[in-house]
Amino acid sequence: MIYMSVTIGTPLQASAFKVLLLGSGELGKEVVISLQRLGVEVHAADRYDHAPAMQVAHYAYTLNMADAEQLKQLIEQVKPNLIIPEIEAIATEVLVDIEQQNIAAVIPSAKAVNLTMNREGIRRLAAEELGLPTSAYRFADSLESFRAACDDIGYPNFVKPVMSSSGKGQSRVKNFDEVDAAWEYAQTGGRVNQGKVIVESQIDFDFEITLLTVRAKNAETGEIETQYCDPIGHRQDAGDYVESWQPQAMTPAALQESKRIAHKVTTALGGCGIFGVELFVKGDKVWFSEVSPRPHDTGLVTLASQFQSEFELHARAILGLPVNTTRHSVAASAVIYAGVDDSNLSFSGLNLALSNPHTDLRLFGKPEGFKRRRMGVATARAETTDQARELALHTATQVIVEQN
Ligand SMILES: Nc1ncnc2c1ncn2[C@@H]1O[C@H](COP(=O)(O)OP(=O)(O)OP(=O)(O)O)[C@@H](O)[C@H]1O
Ligand SMILES: [Mg+2]
Repeated sequence: MIYMSVTIGTPLQASAFKVLLLGSGELGKEVVISLQRLGVEVHAADRYDHAPAMQVAHYAYTLNMADAEQLKQLIEQVKPNLIIPEIEAIATEVLVDIEQQNIAAVIPSAKAVNLTMNREGIRRLAAEELGLPTSAYRFADSLESFRAACDDIGYPNFVKPVMSSSGKGQSRVKNFDEVDAAWEYAQTGGRVNQGKVIVESQIDFDFEITLLTVRAKNAETGEIETQYCDPIGHRQDAGDYVESWQPQAMTPAALQESKRIAHKVTTALGGCGIFGVELFVKGDKVWFSEVSPRPHDTGLVTLASQFQSEFELHARAILGLPVNTTRHSVAASAVIYAGVDDSNLSFSGLNLALSNPHTDLRLFGKPEGFKRRRMGVATARAETTDQARELALHTATQVIVEQN
């Protein structure tokens, strides 16, 4: 017998199938567009007005999602079928309750959201419970224990607040003289100032990849199956991605090992949806770095390279629908920064940027820009990844950000 999956009603009517998005950035915006195309009613929340995903959702809410009371109230008001946490700074204990009481399903699971919001949770799961290869690491919650941890791990090492993302509060410590400054920096850069950091040994990798891994139901049986997109190579600058490309060439052994690691960690996290599994690769050897239980910024390249982008894959998977991870093109993406601290910015040069028929742009519509804030992305298709990278970077630089 064929298994019966979700039934989607009519948005804005009593039958609506409702999704509540917690965090309304540019990745969430693309997820909302994908959900809208399937007739889902979308509610988008963030801490500021007019966030990108709010602009394409049916309803928008501005609140502090790290505040358990405010979050609980919003969920009671919306009564969503699904809750999609799109950022890490959320009162996740509320989500655990919501899932336990069967009020709504949390994507991909409350456990996954809880473990991945904190570097300690996911690192201990990956290295200690699952036995996956990672960098050597220590945790520290005082200057004293931090100095000892750096001594233990050696130099150079990477220091990251356990509650942080996009490189915030993160530094590479080259020698003992830099230890105290790195501690200070980590204390100011973390998302929630709880003081704890991870110290990681530096992995001397050839390249790093994101292996987008989808857990989606088989259309006939309803069993959850794991599928992989082709590996995405990327370049990071100060802990933030600046360009990505797909596919990243690698040895068959390294690809097999990458899939083994991704399978193990995503199976442990559970639920349906896409995961961005970050891996370091050297020859045939692969190390697990971290994982996002949601679309990954480096995966923006899939807008140009796959039949179903990572956002469409996520939308389908979380609704219990089948997915297709096939790539149709070689492509690359390059980030467009604001370059200035200002709001109400304008973007010109778009005619030139788009003059090559193999390029495309996304401008996120963020109300405020900072020097290093991502305001858009350029994508490009070509014969080879090198050509695609060159074209994507060129396209991004043709977009001119203007102050008003
Ligand atoms: N142990 C390590 N060895 C070598 N390079 C590292 C190590 N840890 C981090 N890096 C480099 O720093 C980048 C950012 O690290 P990480 O992904 O842990 O931080 P993040 O703040 O979560 O970044 P993002 O949110 O952009 O993924 C990595 O992609 C890698 O280039
Ligand atoms: Mg990362």
